[in-house]
Amino acid sequence: MGVEAEKRLAGEAASELVHDEMLVGLGTGTTVAYLLEAIARRAPKAIFFASSPRTQVAARALGLRVHGFGDVGRLDLAIDGADQIAPDGWLIKGGGGALTREKIVAAAAQRFVVIADSTKVVDVLHAPVPLELARFGLAATLERLGSCEVRDSPRSPDGGVIADYYGPVAEPSELARRLSRTPGVVAHGLFEPELVSELFVGDVATVRRTIIGGTK
Ligand code: A5P
Repeated sequence: MGVEAEKRLAGEAASELVHDEMLVGLGTGTTVAYLLEAIARRAPKAIFFASSPRTQVAARALGLRVHGFGDVGRLDLAIDGADQIAPDGWLIKGGGGALTREKIVAAAAQRFVVIADSTKVVDVLHAPVPLELARFGLAATLERLGSCEVRDSPRSPDGGVIADYYGPVAEPSELARRLSRTPGVVAHGLFEPELVSELFVGDVATVRRTIIGGTK
């Protein structure tokens, strides 16, 4: 079985976590696209909150009830993909540039479930780490960060500049601290294990579930 089949299996398995009356955050990306289809087939009476305009459009087209994420303080569940998953639960996300909203949605969810194909599991996280940077003072922020390239892609929906950090990532907590402390960095794509409840990883014809246990 290929990567697409693994993504689909992971998305289908996670779709079963969605039940009537739940408030559910939706991530962004190709794995989430399978999740959306699987949720739509089950048609639960849940309310959804999208982490990107792309997901919002796709979810609504499938008939899901999507609300804006401005007035709700807590979600029951959020489900999203990842670019890299380390054995200790650290993630790199933001390959699609939606990292700021994805992190806000993940942090708001009581249970955050990551869906992925088996190629996303790595022994050690490696560059690039996606970043969203403020436009103001961009050159100064880049200078301070070093090893960083602005992506040739549209701004984020919140007006930020999407870039990638190419320095060493072997100590993710140290790097996350440094990035968070750097003025001009709106958000970075390192997601700490404390954010992550469970991993659903498609593995050939099955889904491997791992509890990371981040509770918020
Ligand atoms: C979007 O900004 C990302 O964080 C995605 O969740 C991540 O890139 C995984 O995407 P795929 O499911 O397309 O691999």
